[in-house]
Amino acid sequence: MSNTEASSSFARTMRQHSLQVAIIALGIAVLLVFTNKLTKAQIESQRLESRRQSLNAVLPQRLHDNDLLSASFQLGPGSKDFMQMELLGLSTQRTAYLATLNGTATGVILPLETAEGYAGPIVLLIGIAADGSITGVRAMQHGETPGLGSQINIDQSQWITSFNQHSLTDTPETKWRVKSDGGNFDEFVGATITPRAVVGAVYGALLFFEANKNTLLAAPGQQESP
Ligand SMILES: Cc1cc2nc3c(=O)[nH]c(=O)nc-3n(C[C@H](O)[C@H](O)[C@H](O)COP(=O)(O)O)c2cc1C
Repeated sequence: MSNTEASSSFARTMRQHSLQVAIIALGIAVLLVFTNKLTKAQIESQRLESRRQSLNAVLPQRLHDNDLLSASFQLGPGSKDFMQMELLGLSTQRTAYLATLNGTATGVILPLETAEGYAGPIVLLIGIAADGSITGVRAMQHGETPGLGSQINIDQSQWITSFNQHSLTDTPETKWRVKSDGGNFDEFVGATITPRAVVGAVYGALLFFEANKNTLLAAPGQQESP
């Protein structure tokens, strides 16, 4: 084989290899884009499912037949339609939900926050039925100490369920405190600060509901996606 033939054969082989590498790279890129899209969709669907579960935990399914996620509205420091916004303690805009059964408002799920936690803010969700009674409370975000303040988490203790069914009517103002402050609610052994903060926040949410009941139950604000 002459030098010219050898060099042209080498160039041809190189072109073929480059093409193969390019095709493989393109294939990998397409696969990555596809996997990324699929993963994003799965993460979003898991996020919505977990949100749905949290909502059903604070407002039982028997009280609503609507999709709570599509009956949401925003509450926060700047919400103008509501009185005494400070009672919810919100430092930022958060999502609230309206529950309906056969088209009638049966309750709301409100976000609330307290800055009085042992380790900073505690964010909670509370379900309140139209009659003003609590259907459930759950801690959503906090930095409380594992084994102490973290007992506000339902997976560590049933303490957070001690609010269920209570209302401003059955529990007078002076009893919305932990027992060591003369109230009705237990504290944890060696950890009074966290439950004290949560009891205060829950009481504040009940007062907020009472002050804004009519607006809240009338499908307030513009409904937004979760
Ligand atoms: C390292 C450490 C972490 C603590 N974490 C918490 C906590 O998460 N929640 C809480 O209420 N108290 C926590 N405590 C205990 C509080 O400092 C306080 O002693 C307790 O809440 C009782 O408060 P009281 O004296 O007002 O009843 C912690 C203490 C220490 C030393």
